[in-house]
Amino acid sequence: MFGVRGLLRALRRCSSAPCPKHEPAARLRVREALEARELPVEDVKVQGWVRSVRSQKEVLFLHINDGSSLESLQVVADPSLKYRDLNFGSAVEVQGKLLKSLHQKQNVELKAENIRVVGPCDTVMFPFKPREKHPLEYIRQFPHLRCRTNTLRSLLRVRSEATAAIHSFFQENGYVHIHTPVITSNDCEGGGELFQIETANKVKEPEGESHFFDVPAFLTVSGQLHLEVMAGAFTQVFTFGPTFRAENSQSRRHLSEFYMVEAEVSFTESLQDIMQVIEDLFKTATSTVLSRCPHEVEFFYKYVAPAQKGRLEQMLKNKFLTLSYTEAVDILKRAPQTFTFKPEWGQDLQTEHEKYLVTHCGDVPVFVINYPYDLKPFYMRDNDDGPQHTVAAVDLLVPGVGELCGGSLREERLHFLQSRLQRLGLSDTYQWYLDLRKFGSIPHGGFGMGFERYLQCILGISNIKDVMPFPRFPHSCLL
Ligand code: 4AD
Ligand code: MG
Repeated sequence: MFGVRGLLRALRRCSSAPCPKHEPAARLRVREALEARELPVEDVKVQGWVRSVRSQKEVLFLHINDGSSLESLQVVADPSLKYRDLNFGSAVEVQGKLLKSLHQKQNVELKAENIRVVGPCDTVMFPFKPREKHPLEYIRQFPHLRCRTNTLRSLLRVRSEATAAIHSFFQENGYVHIHTPVITSNDCEGGGELFQIETANKVKEPEGESHFFDVPAFLTVSGQLHLEVMAGAFTQVFTFGPTFRAENSQSRRHLSEFYMVEAEVSFTESLQDIMQVIEDLFKTATSTVLSRCPHEVEFFYKYVAPAQKGRLEQMLKNKFLTLSYTEAVDILKRAPQTFTFKPEWGQDLQTEHEKYLVTHCGDVPVFVINYPYDLKPFYMRDNDDGPQHTVAAVDLLVPGVGELCGGSLREERLHFLQSRLQRLGLSDTYQWYLDLRKFGSIPHGGFGMGFERYLQCILGISNIKDVMPFPRFPHSCLL
């Protein structure tokens, strides 16, 4: 708001009118300056970080960026002014006049009247160099500084727009946003990949009195069960929050802390309904991101993953395919290649299998449905079939990443759920969950989508660590 007002204020007193001395310069963000069309604009102030300095005999060229746009603003200054500490990486405030640029590549430039170095930068020690394309592996070593690179700046803007696009998708389709708890006593997925939480004192002196909470408490692995509570009052709900799993942090698609988008839909008896929401979410959110930050996305297609542009176009254009788990295993068994893990009905699909299936289907997203009963968590709806017993589960596999979403119909029949929980010895823990099946139980289903995997998929980033604002690996880099 301030920036837009600044631009209006600056435009009102542009060109012919003499500049009243008492008024402070109008502060513009780089994006606003680049978008100014009625030029010249007198007395503006732009703040940012120096991306390049080029000194010629007659003129000093400077590019500054403040994160509002991928493009930097060109500043022209008189080299005789001898600015101290005006280096790549330094923070500056430039006051001057916005002019139409004679340069073909840009419309606007800022003719500096005054340049103030707000924060100098030691260019020898600074890990990034001007005009160098630093690989993601290199910049990953500097979690506290990497947001100054074009790569991370682009990524973080896409991440921000994708967050907004996902919220808009659900809000516009009548879903209610629920803040599900971060601290919980349930292990929704039953995988045991839990981080237990305790007060620092208790960790120091484990023999001490009681726990902070009366029951063991963990960081959430999924907000699903809490969403199911809410699906008993609202017919469509979603959550989008941090999720924690004590998983192998060396992998290129697993994080110990990540964000998950989850939705729950009531009064549905069909897995197809859930798959349709997943497909609509993916396509709508992605189209919004592409239109909201085209330059940032293009940056990735140009420098990081050139093949991804065409791949994503195919994903958006074509209907997602569907295979049953049984069909998937048959395809894998007939594959001409040997897998590290031999495909077998009843075994989990491994990353190598998921990647093969996606390629086999023509590099488009593939839903795999109806997984073996024994492979999946207690809440999934029994298909009551045989001899190969399955549940109404769905995973969405996407090119380059593998599993992007996992979901299912939920077991809404009290006796099915009761006997399954009893067999697992979980009846006491999930009394409250059984209650949901006693008081107005409804057929329902939902899914979760890993947000970082989603970003990997649209931008073609191979390592998930590069998608988090602050990486959690190596652990010594924990900020
Ligand atoms: O398949 P998952 O485990 O499903 C659930 O947690 C369900 N309770 C969701 C639901 O139905 N509401 O996880 C969902 C998605 C995965 O498909 C994957 O994209 C992502 O979350 N995910 C991870 N992403 C990064 N790092 C990890 N360690 C992840 N574990 C799961
Ligand atoms: Mg899963």
